[in-house]
Amino acid sequence: MSNTGKLKAFADSIAAATSPFRNYLSDLHRKYLPLSDGTVADYIPELALADPSWFGVAVATVEGQVFEVGDCAQPFTIQSISKAFVYGLALEDHGRDYVNSKVGVEPTGEAFNAIVLDEATNRPYNPMVNAGAIATADLIKGKDGTERLKRMLDMFSRYTGRSHDIHVPVFLSERATGNRNRAIAYLMLNFGMVSDRIDETLDLYFQQCSILVTARDLSLMAATLANGGVNPVTGDRALDQRYVQDVVSVMLTCGMYDSSGDWAYRVGMPAKSGVGGGITAVSPGKLGIGTFSPPLDAKGNSLRGIRVCQQLSQDFGLHPFNVAPPPKDLDSWIKGDADLDRW
Ligand code: DON
Repeated sequence: MSNTGKLKAFADSIAAATSPFRNYLSDLHRKYLPLSDGTVADYIPELALADPSWFGVAVATVEGQVFEVGDCAQPFTIQSISKAFVYGLALEDHGRDYVNSKVGVEPTGEAFNAIVLDEATNRPYNPMVNAGAIATADLIKGKDGTERLKRMLDMFSRYTGRSHDIHVPVFLSERATGNRNRAIAYLMLNFGMVSDRIDETLDLYFQQCSILVTARDLSLMAATLANGGVNPVTGDRALDQRYVQDVVSVMLTCGMYDSSGDWAYRVGMPAKSGVGGGITAVSPGKLGIGTFSPPLDAKGNSLRGIRVCQQLSQDFGLHPFNVAPPPKDLDSWIKGDADLDRW
């Protein structure tokens, strides 16, 4: 990042720390912290070690401002959130037509780990469920697993502006208990939807899910998509502009699995959840949201994260189909104008 960029980032951080919008996020965090519903994931044993009280909320604007409240620096494994971004990398590697020949774009209405393929094409329905994500990971180019993983990590670094590591205990835990994913992978091998290097791909998929991120990272990843594929803080391009629509569209229809319909109705922002407790949500042209709280609902989505995204969407009119004036004007709250509320 240039010195000019660093100075802008510093000025933005000062503005963010004193903005009324940060106070709004603090109130939101205070409101939902007492929420005690939900269960920390334990089907991957290492995930059960998470503290259910962890709760971070981050918002990054396409102008490069980042607002953080709570446990936004607490690292956790990205899990299924990675799928949306690896899908973008696969599109860059092979182009839309070839990727679509291996993975569909249809929501399933099923659980994220359903062992189901589209009977008409033998393809996994979409890249957000485990089947589609494994098929997508199989498309990532590289001479071996090490190079393929490095390309993935470098891609995430372009979205977040920092380097990332694998949480090895979660990776080993998931590899040791991942027989359902192996069954899905070999079913797809049977139909030619994945290559014969499927064992290397399964390790790559388990590693991708074990990449450590924070709520701040998730807000920057979403803001990068909101900004046409360019990180609004670093100015680095993370995704070819041609494929932003593909990724964000599939996040909207499939990103929250069998909650995607309810999410589209109540929140509307394209989003992706992960069993590690993260949610990333995109408001195209405006901002990205990153939330982290381990307790999940029955469909594997963070309960506190869902509440926060729903309230932000309603208060600031972030639903893409909203046409009514929202209760709060986003620019006024971020800039700190006098008349913050419309009424
Ligand atoms: O393959 C799995 O089951 C996990 N690594 C990812 C599942 C997940 O994050 C579902 N999201 N809510």
